[in-house]
Amino acid sequence: MSEKTYRVIQWMTGDVGQVGVRHFADNPVYDLVGVLVHNKDKVGKDAGEIAGIGPTGVLATDDVDSIVAMDADCVFYTPIIMDVDTVCRLLRSGKNVVTTSGFFHPSPDFATDGDKIRAACADGGISFHAGGIHPGYAGDILPLTLARVVSRIDKIKVLEVVNVLADAPLDHIDWLGFGKEKDRFLSEPTILGLGTVFFAQSMYMLADGLGVTIDNVTSELEAAVATEDIAHELGVIPKGTVAAQRHRWTAAVDGNPLIVFEALYTTTTPDHLDPPWDFGKTLYRIEIEGDPSTALTLEGVEGPDGKMTHPGYDWTAMGAINAIPNVCDAGPGWVNHLDLGLIQPRGLVR
Ligand SMILES: NC(=O)c1ccc[n+]([C@@H]2O[C@H](COP(=O)([O-])OP(=O)(O)OC[C@H]3O[C@@H](n4cnc5c(N)ncnc54)[C@H](OP(=O)(O)O)[C@@H]3O)[C@@H](O)[C@H]2O)c1
Repeated sequence: MSEKTYRVIQWMTGDVGQVGVRHFADNPVYDLVGVLVHNKDKVGKDAGEIAGIGPTGVLATDDVDSIVAMDADCVFYTPIIMDVDTVCRLLRSGKNVVTTSGFFHPSPDFATDGDKIRAACADGGISFHAGGIHPGYAGDILPLTLARVVSRIDKIKVLEVVNVLADAPLDHIDWLGFGKEKDRFLSEPTILGLGTVFFAQSMYMLADGLGVTIDNVTSELEAAVATEDIAHELGVIPKGTVAAQRHRWTAAVDGNPLIVFEALYTTTTPDHLDPPWDFGKTLYRIEIEGDPSTALTLEGVEGPDGKMTHPGYDWTAMGAINAIPNVCDAGPGWVNHLDLGLIQPRGLVR
């Protein structure tokens, strides 16, 4: 088993896909055989150059047909938005697909497209799997893992804290709606709010893993405003506009709130916020209320060189990539974390 290798294609080279290129180039378990890009400037470049490492010998192409025709065990599919028909085409071409872009668990919102994916897996005789950091790990695998050591669960809370200016790409400031007037922000769709159905997949996976049925999932949104201008490299979040946001999604079981996810995103410290929310550092935290009440924190820490950049994109990519051997070796179908069981990541000790 340890000598088995997997030929992989990297589909798009954004923040997550570049982690894929670096990992496939470095981990001898994988053989990078193709790279698809969208950006014309990247076409013809060595994938290593795109991902900030030495040459890989694999040149990026934007020719989808040539990638679909290529022989490979798996496509690591990380486009900006998943296209289900494209995924089905890849599956029917006989390649397993592992993605960070959606379809983490067959929740009710994804029933129709889920059936399409299952049919394509059956036709191709291969498997589909989605993973990441959240959704796909922090709100499903981690609480299920923590649940193994408790005897009763009354409530499970999953917190995601992101200090946006320090730990996220700067383009996320506008994208997340910071700097908007508060009433407008609260009345318009938000990018995280639109993600509710994706986060809910983790809730449904968690509920399935615990053997309970979710009645419904509800959403709440609050915002805090800046008490002074917040300057950043791309501009300024003006005083009086949204500088922090708190999304809360609650899954009820038997009429009671059982699973609560909070996404706490801020651009500043409590002394510059109204109300003065203190979310603390960027992290994920799982809190089980029950017997015994128990918590678990996932956070980036400094390496031996004293340096630390928030590993969000590494976690996202590796959460999915480490499942590739198990997905390729699994029987055909849409395999989620519950189907795969305990993943045994390969080639990490090298
Ligand atoms: N589950 C999780 O934990 C988690 C966390 C973060 C992200 N994600 C998901 O993972 C996926 C990848 O995220 P990312 O941060 O790497 O995305 P990204 O950097 O924003 O974009 C990915 C790539 O998509 C291609 N692209 C950009 N505009 C396009 C367009 N108009 N048409 C077609 N392709 C276009 C580009 O590829 P090239 O640069 O190669 O040309 C871009 O680099 C997304 O679906 C994201 O939602 C999941």
